Amino acid sequence: MEALEKVRITVKVNGKIYTHDIDPRLLLVHYIRDYLGLTGTHVGCDTSNCGACTVILNGKAVKSCTLYAFMADGGEILTVEGLEKDGKLHPIQEAFWENHALQCGFCTPGMIMTLYDFLSRNPRPTEEEVRRAIEGNLCRCTGYQNIVKAALWAAERMRGGGGDE
Ligand code: FES
Ligand code: FES
Repeated sequence: MEALEKVRITVKVNGKIYTHDIDPRLLLVHYIRDYLGLTGTHVGCDTSNCGACTVILNGKAVKSCTLYAFMADGGEILTVEGLEKDGKLHPIQEAFWENHALQCGFCTPGMIMTLYDFLSRNPRPTEEEVRRAIEGNLCRCTGYQNIVKAALWAAERMRGGGGDE
């Protein structure tokens, strides 16, 4: 790849500020993985189909393979590594664990970040709404049943319930 003049970006990722000089063609997903070492964000397709690269950018779930890293300059990013607080899993992570919602785990970080955004906007979703919310995230292992179950369990837990209704 022909060298282009680097651009400087500053982003806040999982509460920490980073500044780097990067190639303007660098995709956000590769910035997150290769510059920040946050490899929980996966690359499943590079063609915006699978959702494995989903992160939260400025409060909204985005597929980080569809953005250049410089587009996130000045922004705030949350990746799956930023969900755990004080050694405690986020309720959505706990829900995946409790409901056997993963097998190989490749799609899991993307699923979780998509649901993080979705449940913040819709804390009392129906099963149908959950299924629609994860339409852009592909899982080749689970058949989705337990992922949907986990999402509903997490919603209940985040509303202050036990997650078992
Ligand atoms: S790697 Fe981004 S959608 Fe598949
Ligand atoms: S658990 Fe394997 S791709 Fe979803």
